[in-house]
Amino acid sequence: MQSAGGSPWVVLKFGGTSVSTAANWRNVADIVRARVADGLRPLVVHSALTGITDRLDGLLATALSGDASAELDEIERRHAVLARDLGIATPPGVILILAELRRTVASLKHLREVGDRTRAQVLASGELMATHVGADFLKSLGLDAVWLDARTALRAEEHAGRHEKASKLSATCDFSPDAALRGRLDRAGALVVTQGFIASDSAGDTVLLGRGGSDTSGAYFAAKLSAQRLEIWTDVPGMFSGNPRSIPGARLLQALHYDEAQEIASNGAKVLHPRCILPVRQYAIPLHVYATQMPGLCGTVVSGAPGASAAQVKAICVKKDITLVSLESPGMWHQVGFLADAFQVFKDHGLSVDLISTSETSVTVSLDPAANALDPAIVDALVQDLSALCRVQVIGPCASLSLVGRNIRGILHDLGEAFELFEEQKIYLVSQAANDLNFTFVIDETQADRLVQQLHDLLIRPGQGDPVWGPTWEQLHAPATAAPPAAERWWPARRDELLAIARENSAAYVYDLATVDARARALGRLHSIDRVFYAIKANPHPQILRRVAAAGLALECVSQGEVERVLREVPDLALDRILFTPNFASRDEYDFALSAGVRLTLDNLHPLQYWPRLFQGREIIVRVDPGFGRGHHQHVRTAGLHSKFGVPTFELEEFARLARAAGARIVGLHAHNGSGIFSVSNWVETAELLAGLAGRFADLRYINIGGGIGVPEMFSRSPLDLAALDAAIAAVRAHHPKLEFWMEPGRYVVAEAGVLLAVVTQLKGKGEVRYVGVATGMNSLIRPALYGAWHEIVNLTRLGEPASETCTIVGPICESGDQLGTDRALPPTEEGDVLLIANAGAYGHAMSSHYNLRAPAIEIVI
Ligand code: LLP
Repeated sequence: MQSAGGSPWVVLKFGGTSVSTAANWRNVADIVRARVADGLRPLVVHSALTGITDRLDGLLATALSGDASAELDEIERRHAVLARDLGIATPPGVILILAELRRTVASLKHLREVGDRTRAQVLASGELMATHVGADFLKSLGLDAVWLDARTALRAEEHAGRHEKASKLSATCDFSPDAALRGRLDRAGALVVTQGFIASDSAGDTVLLGRGGSDTSGAYFAAKLSAQRLEIWTDVPGMFSGNPRSIPGARLLQALHYDEAQEIASNGAKVLHPRCILPVRQYAIPLHVYATQMPGLCGTVVSGAPGASAAQVKAICVKKDITLVSLESPGMWHQVGFLADAFQVFKDHGLSVDLISTSETSVTVSLDPAANALDPAIVDALVQDLSALCRVQVIGPCASLSLVGRNIRGILHDLGEAFELFEEQKIYLVSQAANDLNFTFVIDETQADRLVQQLHDLLIRPGQGDPVWGPTWEQLHAPATAAPPAAERWWPARRDELLAIARENSAAYVYDLATVDARARALGRLHSIDRVFYAIKANPHPQILRRVAAAGLALECVSQGEVERVLREVPDLALDRILFTPNFASRDEYDFALSAGVRLTLDNLHPLQYWPRLFQGREIIVRVDPGFGRGHHQHVRTAGLHSKFGVPTFELEEFARLARAAGARIVGLHAHNGSGIFSVSNWVETAELLAGLAGRFADLRYINIGGGIGVPEMFSRSPLDLAALDAAIAAVRAHHPKLEFWMEPGRYVVAEAGVLLAVVTQLKGKGEVRYVGVATGMNSLIRPALYGAWHEIVNLTRLGEPASETCTIVGPICESGDQLGTDRALPPTEEGDVLLIANAGAYGHAMSSHYNLRAPAIEIVI
């Protein structure tokens, strides 16, 4: 190994999107200037403009059969437009390459197929043209940029027996430190611009490094120049714990070991090409991943730093379009050479095998489309040859789901719940990598998106303050769309009042009753819902209860204490507007509620079985478990097999029999699936299910579809569309005109009405983490610690000042989980400042405690 120290070179690789628009090029220029200003020598390696390689590929197909001039014109136009947008003339290099392309294309007419040599040459022109534009643009800004033909620097390795196609279109290059190249470039300009994706072979022919090969080019150059680092600039700001385009909660992985990055890249993450890790790893060159459109974000650093060794799933990766080939032969057991013969057939067809699982009579292997050109003819030919050895079955399209992280064997015991997700899925193949870095399942492709989301929810559990974990994709994009109309947030306008409160109280919950009113009235306007109960567990503050009742809502309680509070604080409320929904409560509580005359929901057979006399002549509602739970966190999903709530539908008959025997009448069906739900379908499905059961109960009048309406944690998220919910429920109830429909939301009514104010006590910088300590923590607001919940946090004292620091906000409680927010952007914050933690009106004070004998924040209504 050779140290990377001492070299002034830094290799900056930019992908297609980064170099396709003038706006992105301005960012590229700034990045390059910053490196030069740091005393570094940048080597810029970049791709073709987005879509050009595909066009060139398409052009080859058209050229064989007809006239490809329209495609050529379009390619020319794209480069000319970009040059114009950049304020430069179309570079002569581009004009020459286009002329050459036109000649090549003309010569292809009447041929039957395009040879790999020509294909490589034509596809290479995308990078060649783009880099001419790039170099001329950087020169036009006064930078001393020199254009380098990568084919004079990267030489393809010869592999004995290598498949011919691979050697031209998917070549690998020697990447040992290259003093001659370094000397040549040292004498060139301040910065060098060259192509990704292309190299040359010993015959001087152009070869390609495979699709996505520009990352590999960057790594080869970094290794050859012993660069200080390789920076890969792309359109996502780093590597994430899942594909952020389909999992908005995917977390940025700020630091990864080469091994882990390799595994994530090899298992379907598109951000880095898997081949680019080896060269930088071999020479211990750190690799940074950044986003060109968001150059200020910290990105991912991939290096040899050991990192925490604790077993942890860091990413859930998906690869689609996988074909499985299953080989069955009763004779293979103990048969010498069966595998050798079988794999020789794969080799003969130029196919590389990815995953393998074996039994005594069968072997299943997967073919990865990224590594194989899998047209049906190739697969047919493979099957034909394999059939001479054994029975062959081709299965596909499949997807592989990989859990990636170090010491993955160490967490197998935690995967129990994850395996349950596969209950109804056929798993074709399971493989645990020998390097202990991944655990992979191959399933039907159609199931992949759903399962990956669920596995991510279940298994990505970032440790608080662990430097590996950065913000989520959603959080990173929050600032761009930020803040809802200020009119919807009540507190900025009342800042002075809030600061005055904080001067008197170092920690206080403050509630704005006008917001409570507005939310209660919005629910009251749902035409499809006959009665809305406010679930008081979210916030049972007496003034809030009175205000909500005054707005026309009924109240739902879950304990004797809550019922007593309602009876005491809202004494005029009609008793049938109080609903009691206990769970595993003692007999006394049911007795109390029935004597008090409030409505009662049962969610178990036990009370009817053992205390039937209580229910004699009473009307009861039954809470049904619809079999699916929903919500923002596992702990708040209150339905499904693993939840303690509700009577499963298969027990309803028995429940009805017991109710009849006890002399009780079932007048309502209820289901509440969870909390923090944003999909209208949740309540539609519940309404349909419950209304569908109505026929079984002669006395049925009410369908209660539960609460759970989500409130966006971040300003960037859209709220649930209440009008859409209303319309969808109206459509269901149109079929059930005799039934009343109820709902029982809690959070929606109060979350945004409350803020938690906390005065800054102390500051601390530790390693890379900057802690801002405040006067109260998980004893007042446990949601971040318990559910990883996100509450917006602002420095109220310095409202509107630019946020220039990334901080973790902690309380004074003796637990490492005592954090109110991690990685938050705040303006420079000082002792005595007041932080405001937003959306704290629901499940804030209600869940507070005196842990450590620290009184939670007091409550103030304004
Ligand atoms: N109905 C029943 C039967 C419930 O169990 C709940 C909440 C609700 C209605 C009201 O749900 P909401 O509309 O507020 O989502 N502590 C958690 C929430 C737990 C909710 C428990 N049940 C949190 O802070 O997110």
